This record gives sequence, C-alpha cells and structure tokens, in this order.
Amino acid sequence: MTTRIGIGLLGLGTVGGGVAEILQTPDGRHPLVADLDLVRVAVRDLDRPRPVSLDPAVLTTDPEAVVDDPAVQVVVEVMGGLEPARTLIMRAIAAGKSVVTANKAVIARHGEEIAAAAAAAGVYVLIEAAVGGGIPIIEPLKQSLGGNRIERVSGIINGTTNYILSRMAQEGADYAEVLRQAQELGYAEADPAADVDGLDAADKIAILAGLAFGGPIPRSGIPTAGISSLQGRDVDYATQLDYSVKLLAVAERMDGAGRDGSSHALPLAVRVQPTLVPLDHPLAGVHGVNNAILVEGDPIGRVMFYGPGAGAGPTASAVVADILNIAGIRQLDDADGNLDPLLAASSWRQCHLVDSGAIRQRNYLRFQTEDAPGVIGQIGTCFGQHGVSIQSIVQFDASDAGAEIVVITHEVSNGNLEQALAAITAQAEVRGIAAHLGCL
Ligand SMILES: NC(=O)c1ccc[n+]([C@@H]2O[C@H](COP(=O)([O-])OP(=O)(O)OC[C@H]3O[C@@H](n4cnc5c(N)ncnc54)[C@H](OP(=O)(O)O)[C@@H]3O)[C@@H](O)[C@H]2O)c1
Repeated sequence: MTTRIGIGLLGLGTVGGGVAEILQTPDGRHPLVADLDLVRVAVRDLDRPRPVSLDPAVLTTDPEAVVDDPAVQVVVEVMGGLEPARTLIMRAIAAGKSVVTANKAVIARHGEEIAAAAAAAGVYVLIEAAVGGGIPIIEPLKQSLGGNRIERVSGIINGTTNYILSRMAQEGADYAEVLRQAQELGYAEADPAADVDGLDAADKIAILAGLAFGGPIPRSGIPTAGISSLQGRDVDYATQLDYSVKLLAVAERMDGAGRDGSSHALPLAVRVQPTLVPLDHPLAGVHGVNNAILVEGDPIGRVMFYGPGAGAGPTASAVVADILNIAGIRQLDDADGNLDPLLAASSWRQCHLVDSGAIRQRNYLRFQTEDAPGVIGQIGTCFGQHGVSIQSIVQFDASDAGAEIVVITHEVSNGNLEQALAAITAQAEVRGIAAHLGCL
C-alpha cells in the first residue's frame, strides 16, 4: 500500500522551480516521485512568470500558511536568506514535519539548534542540496563513509569563484574583467561578496566538517580569504610553476586526539583560501562552475565527488533525493517513529578549531624587492632562522623598477611563518609582501 505525501514548497525560484518540474514529470524517475503531491507553494510575487505551470490556488505569499497546512507533510525550504527561513524551518519542526533545505547559510549558523529541535520532535532535516549542488556528498558523509576515520575534507565548493579562476588562468585575464563577464552570464550575483570573499565556501566547509568529524563547527571561527584581491600575475606565476590556483576549503584533524575515544574535543584546522594546487592533483582538473570534494579517510584512502555545484536541475536533483529519503521511511509498514540514526546524523563528539597560528600548510609568497644582489640569500636566511624550509625560490620580472621573488615553502606552522615574514619585511631591500596564498 502506498501513501501519498504532501509537499509544501517555500520558494519557487531557481531551485524551487527545478523541484516543481521534477515533481510534475515523474515518468522514468523512481516510482516514489509519483507519490509526492505539491500541495502549497510560497512566493513573494504572485504575478511573476514561473518556469512551471501550477494551479493558482496552490500559490501563496504567506509562507507560514504553507508550513501550517495540514495537507503538507514535508516542508521544502528553498527561499534562501537567514530570516524568515530559519524561523519557518523551526516552525515546521515544531509542527512535527520533516524539512528539506538547500540553505547553507542557515545550516552553517543555526544547524545545531535546528538538529536538536528535529531530534526532539522526531523529524528529519535533510540538507543534501546545501553543499555541492547536485553532487551527492552529504549522504555519503553521513552513511556510505560512516565506517571511516576521516582525516581531511577539502574541495572546490563555490562554482562562481572557480569559474572566475579558470578564466583568469586560461586567458591571463584580470579578476575585475572576468567578474564583470561572469555577472553578465549569470554565473555571479550582482552583489558577489558572499562568493568572492569566500563566505559561501566557509558556510559549506563548516557543514561538511561537522558531518565528517561528528561535531558542530563554530562558523565564525573559520579563517576565510577570498579571491577579490588575487592578482592575475599570481595565477600566471603559478601556471609557470606547474600549479593551478583554486579557492580551496579545507577541514583536517590536527593530530590523533579523539581517536582513543577520550573526552577531549577533536582539534581541527578549517580554512578557506586561494591555494596553489599541483597540476597533477585531482582538484586541479576541476574547471568552470563545477565543484569537487575530496574526502580522505582510513581505511578508504581518497575518494572524490565531482559535478555541477549549482543550477536549477542539479540542485533540484539533490532536494528531491532528500524528499525521497523521507518519503521512503514514511512508506515503511513498520515505521515506529524512531529516527534512522544515519539519516538523522546527530553529532557524536565535540570539535574545536585550533588557533590559526597552529595551522600547518605549504605557502606561496610573492615579495617585491629591490633588484639588488643578495636579496634572495637574505630572504632564505630569514626563513631558515625561523624554521621555515623552502621548496623553491624563483625571481621573476627583474627590471629597474625592482624584482619579484616567489617562494614556495614546505609545510610550516602559520606562527613560524609570520615570524619569518616579519624578519623579511624588516630588510631594507624588501619592499613588501605582494601575495600570500596557500599551497597543496
Ligand atoms: N541557485 C542555485 O544554484 C543553488 C544551489 C545550491 C543551493 N541554493 C540555495 O537554495 C536556496 C534558494 O536559491 P535560489 O537560487 O532558488 O533563490 P531564488 O531564485 O532567489 O528563489 C527564491 C524564491 O523564494 C521566494 N521567496 C523569497 N523570500 C520569500 C518570502 N519571504 N516569502 C515567500 N517567498 C519568498 C522567491 O519568491 P519570488 O520568486 O516571488 O521572488 C523565490 O521564488 C538558497 O538558500 C540558495 O543558497 C541555490
């Protein structure tokens, strides 16, 4: 026996339109899709043309009416923004309704509160579309990779910045020009700050790290650098040195703490920054608006998830997968009201972010200096005195106007690096640090 399931949609924009289209065309999809009824849809503007045709009686400008409608069993929040989205999600949970959301901003900031409320109410809040658009990464972290001890999650999780960086590398173009074209093509928002300043990627890595390592991550503590001050010449130098520049989000455990089940919080290094990726690394081949997430764990080794990180169809694919997971459980004859612990994915330990000075990584640095003999030696000496080992040091663009010296370090703590940089910039021949990026 099948039970029809009433879906209430909060938002009928890019993602909501894609969801409605899947629900209206069940042919050839999983049979459960045909059991989903789109019963109410909230929008802001009733007169706006929509990509799908709906009975006008289904549409409302009152999102609370959608949540409260007794015919709605699953609430799908695809309106975006922090409020009223957060309050509507909490209202649905309080009414005993499971929620599917694509809203990374809400989940990264209020995920703990929402998860606690959902657990208490015995409902699910599923978020597959919140990270990586159409790429299945949330459910694999919660379920398929559950037997692993995760060591690191890293990835390209913002398509807008990856598009801009790919074009800068291919065409030697400047950031501002590529951003303008990306806006014209609809790949970048009119206000691109959340993407280009790394904030969207920080929301997403907070969510991924929370699932991978089992505890909530304080979103506001994530060191975040975007690409808005990246210069074309660093992309060019990186290419000459056989690297690709990517906006990488990384979350990794810092040592073995927590492995023995001790009560100490697991120390994690989480960051977002433009990073040089060796051309033979799997993430270097991810171009344009695509996303990719590399998960490293024991015993699986490395596994990479790759695909379209945004867009109506891909994101709706992830939203509908979540709806189907909930629908599948509701269809079980023996459903007893207990939550499936893998699907519900409650946190199971504490994590804490290490101070940024303790984060260890390789670095790319570009110094502007006088074109004088001995400068490279001085820089090398300062690094050596502070325990920073250099992988390569190259002089570019020597002219009357000065020289550019590019250094790639071996792995070093940020604290040691900062001391070395203070000593280097105190040298008379060193004019300044023109760029500082991460390096894999
Ligand atoms: N776009 C993507 O590729 C993508 C990918 C992954 C995740 N997401 C996430 O998915 C969510 C939705 O994104 P989107 O691109 O689909 O946004 P969008 O195109 O701007 O659509 C938002 C929809 O929500 C409606 N809405 C907004 N505020 C409302 C309110 N207060 N009351 C009633 N309706 C309201 C809008 O109504 P009107 O149409 O009448 O204005 C619109 O239909 C966001 O959280 C976003 O971060 C998007």
